[in-house]
Amino acid sequence: MEQRTVGKVLIGNYEDLPVSLGKAVVVDDKELAVFRLSNGKVKAIENKCPHRGGVLSEGMVSGEHVFCPLHDWKINVSDGLVQAPDEGCVQTYKTTIEDNKVYVEITDQ
Ligand code: FES
Repeated sequence: MEQRTVGKVLIGNYEDLPVSLGKAVVVDDKELAVFRLSNGKVKAIENKCPHRGGVLSEGMVSGEHVFCPLHDWKINVSDGLVQAPDEGCVQTYKTTIEDNKVYVEITDQ
């Protein structure tokens, strides 16, 4: 399969991201859920629950986890892993903050 690096994409201002809430962002043809955590970090994951496609940006955030709004699966927003007793993972994206601007790094896989 062809691999393509889309690169670093600006998704907005750090201060405009709501704390402990998700935001849906479309980059290239991917939909991402971006979270500004209460500890100040910004995380980006695929905006689709591996269970039945729940929209994770609409989930409740607690610490480094988001709870899927459909059936409450708990997913770590840093490594993308679904927490036990459920199983699975979502893709994660590296984020950087420079000059109050938030970027995500996208690669095609
Ligand atoms: S779709 Fe996310 S827990 Fe079911």
